[in-house]
Amino acid sequence: MNVTIIGTGYVGLVTGACLAELGNNVFCLDVDQAKIHLLNAGGMPIHEPGLEEIIARNVEEGRLVFSSDPAAATAFADVQFIAVGTPPDEDGAADLQYVLAAARSIGRHMQGFKAVVDKSTVPVGTAEKVAAAIREELAARGADIEFAVASNPEFLKEGAAVEDFMRPDRIVLGVDETPAGERALALLRELYRPFNRNHERTRVMDVRSAEFTKYAANAMLATRISFMNELANLADRVGADIELVRQGIGSDPRIGYSFLYAGTGYGGSCFPKDVDALCRTASENGHGLQILDAVQRVNQAQKKVLLEKVWAQFGRRLAGRSFAVWGLAFKPGTDDMREAPSRSIIEALLRAGATVRAHDPVAQEQAARALAGDLADHPELLRNLTFVPKPLDAAQGADALIVLTEWKSYKSPNLRALREALRSPLVLDGRNIYDLHAMAAAGLTYLGIGRNNLALLKEQMQVAPITVANEVTREEPIEVLVE
Ligand code: UDX
Repeated sequence: MNVTIIGTGYVGLVTGACLAELGNNVFCLDVDQAKIHLLNAGGMPIHEPGLEEIIARNVEEGRLVFSSDPAAATAFADVQFIAVGTPPDEDGAADLQYVLAAARSIGRHMQGFKAVVDKSTVPVGTAEKVAAAIREELAARGADIEFAVASNPEFLKEGAAVEDFMRPDRIVLGVDETPAGERALALLRELYRPFNRNHERTRVMDVRSAEFTKYAANAMLATRISFMNELANLADRVGADIELVRQGIGSDPRIGYSFLYAGTGYGGSCFPKDVDALCRTASENGHGLQILDAVQRVNQAQKKVLLEKVWAQFGRRLAGRSFAVWGLAFKPGTDDMREAPSRSIIEALLRAGATVRAHDPVAQEQAARALAGDLADHPELLRNLTFVPKPLDAAQGADALIVLTEWKSYKSPNLRALREALRSPLVLDGRNIYDLHAMAAAGLTYLGIGRNNLALLKEQMQVAPITVANEVTREEPIEVLVE
């Protein structure tokens, strides 16, 4: 089949590449010409395991093209996926301007039937807005052409996007029960046929339910995380280990093991934005969602939990202190820094006068850019932030190691070398990746999230006195801006 994908972000690029890999002819459109040039030159705008190879192969074999020509994109295929960004607007609602601009572009150029498929995560009711935008464009040029707007939300995770796309748990298709809707459904069923060989994964429903399903899934997962984070903080206070508790409850199949990891709060481009947007929709409809409001509040507070452990050890003024940070991306397998906990934590450390040496296997460049933006009001503090090529380099002479992303390469460090590198033997683990006993045996003081920290919290460890002079010193720490 021929397919057009509008938007070459995470969702669009992965969808386009994977559909081409299945043998379809795919036309990827983006208004960002620099991105199109990069893709046409064999470059990659994002880090996603396996994607580069698939793109290279399918471009080479002529099934995948990148272009910024909207007329050609519309003419190319009956199926037009809209996979552009829906960033939050000032008050947290999903900003639909790019989705509606894509719809208008289709409306302006279409000559025959189109199945317009919303793949971006969009609030309930967006398909109707997309249809209205297309109708307006058709009316403006006096055209009367049949089309349908369908909803086909994407559930892929960054870092495993290709795998998730190729082996979906379910394919949600929202269509209207109209002749045009049925026509769109037939096309989409044909497109997704290869995924249903073993068993039927397609769930067909009305458009509004499909739009809602995506938000419900992300809200449920975010709720599990905030729930576990809240319990972890209680575990710290009562002397229980949340990791053992996680295993104890996860073995119940009604609960399951996934998404029960306590940490530094959920980040990324989806959960924070989607939970906020759903809360927004709820209050606009006079039906505030109390549980989700709490999920958001708990997540905000969770970003501070590691910092509170730093403050408990070193006080709030950190001038002369130096911290090693392992992991910058919001999760492993990606270089995405959107809502990454590392940003607010490093920002707070720098504002309090500390120096930071950071390592990430892929996200250092993105992190440097993100933090330069976050610290735009005090750019001189960036001089106290260094990115190092090896994890152990970061730990050299540091007052503590702070682990913020659970990259595989951090999971089995040489603990003796780590102990020797650190100035004070303190490891603050925001991802609970280490074994308590192994850390203790190596002479390291280990503070995880909810890991039976009672004794350690009561009895502060002896930290080394400040001896290192900072490049930028401050009498008073700059106000710490973590909410
Ligand atoms: C998520 C959804 O999983 C995906 O279905 C949807 O399409 C987009 O949003 P993604 O944002 O790529 O995908 O990341 P995910 O792996 O779900 O993690 C989200 C955040 O939750 C990360 O910050 C992660 O560290 C955190 N998390 C996840 C936890 O803190 N604990 C867990 O147990 C799981």
